[in-house]
Amino acid sequence: MKKRLHIAATATLFLGVGACGGVSSVFTPIGAEIPGLTRAEQELFEEGKTVFATTEDVDEGLGPVFNGRSCGECHSAGGVGGAGEDLVLSRVTRIGAGSGVSYSDLAELGGPVLQRRTIAEIDPTCTIAAEVVPAGAEHVSRRITTPLFGAGLIEAIPDSEILKNIKSGDPDGITGVANYAVSPTTGKHQVGRFGWKSQVATLEHFSADAYLNEMGITTPVFPMDLLPQGKALYDVVPEPEDDGGDLLKFSNFMRLLAAPTPAPATLASGRGSQVFTKIRCVACHVPTLQTGTSSVAALSNRPVNLYSDLLTHDLGMGDGVVQGSADGSHFRTAPLWGLRLRTFFLHDGRATTVDGAVRQHGGEAMAAKQRYESLSAADRTDLLEFLGTL
Ligand code: HEC
Ligand code: HEC
Repeated sequence: MKKRLHIAATATLFLGVGACGGVSSVFTPIGAEIPGLTRAEQELFEEGKTVFATTEDVDEGLGPVFNGRSCGECHSAGGVGGAGEDLVLSRVTRIGAGSGVSYSDLAELGGPVLQRRTIAEIDPTCTIAAEVVPAGAEHVSRRITTPLFGAGLIEAIPDSEILKNIKSGDPDGITGVANYAVSPTTGKHQVGRFGWKSQVATLEHFSADAYLNEMGITTPVFPMDLLPQGKALYDVVPEPEDDGGDLLKFSNFMRLLAAPTPAPATLASGRGSQVFTKIRCVACHVPTLQTGTSSVAALSNRPVNLYSDLLTHDLGMGDGVVQGSADGSHFRTAPLWGLRLRTFFLHDGRATTVDGAVRQHGGEAMAAKQRYESLSAADRTDLLEFLGTL
């Protein structure tokens, strides 16, 4: 096999063996691969990263309508694979109508996700209109781009590890609902963990969904092209524009992308971490879940310090959109790792500070929110300092 020097791999700094139980403390730069990959895995990561950041064109299947020309265009804050950097450009619109069994994702009107750009921006002879919110949409949900750092660790968490955090008889009235996602390829039910409502369980599934709904590129998983505003302009026969190869490459990149390493703790952040536990933010923002065994050794039986139970909860900020077993009022406990790389928060980006995001918690999180508001100024500052290290 050809030997190559991997810049990103060599950029991983080993800070030596830590004091705690001989566990080495490793600092990995944001956007690098997980430490400890084999040479072959490093190559898959590099190849995937390139494809993830590649701008697609019409002859590669882009459009007719789309929201972005590369995955990296939206996933960029802090490095390739990050959250959205620009609130407006990286935020997408999801529509729906009705509720319960009569819920509709309005596919016939251009749903579930709208596309606000068209290939007319590349080929001015095209006269396709960008999608707008149709009159029949009762629910219009804006969604900001979530970060992908550590996605492979999240994917490797066994269902049982997520299910064990569903509560009954919790003193704050917290419950938590697992969102069972159905694989579009195998039909298998698995506990969802990706997306604002934990609506998807695997990176291949999310890649196929994003390739279609954000870029208009069809694959064997979703072979039907998007219909602008629900109207069949062309391409009404199933015809994958990508043979599935790109899906695998995107997934390899995301799966092998390192989790964000927290900034060094300070005295204040150490105190803030205790406040976070004391006022029971941890009831939903569970600091650590464990992965199961994985074919990638670096993902196998590892702690995942994501600060989420990956369950969905009702915080009184519903958008009416139903996705799997998450109803119109439920959202995934947002993982808090990597918070310091972000500038807007909550599913639609309505909060521009972490403090503002916490103050908008209600519903199941009402008791924790009220304890947050009753903290002394010093305790609250410590807590925010702690969240600022994540
Ligand atoms: C137009 C912006 C945009 C583009 C382009 C885009 N995404 Fe996303 N991505 C989003 C948004 C918005 C979400 C949150 C979606 C939701 O749950 O409603 C998201 C979420 C995700 C998630 C879930 C992560 C998590 O833990 O929640 C994955 C995985 C993902 N995107 C992969 C991709 C891949 C792969 C591509 C390229 C094929 C891509 N995205 C292109 C905006 C974008
Ligand atoms: C009942 C479960 C629950 C509790 C308790 C809870 N949260 Fe949350 N948290 C959530 C959910 C769900 C979201 C996503 C809500 C949305 O975007 O609609 C969230 C989002 C956040 C965000 C925004 C993250 C992002 O990616 O935009 C921050 C910051 C946050 N929580 C901090 C806290 C703090 C601090 C506490 C304790 C005072 C707390 N949370 C208590 C469930 C909870």
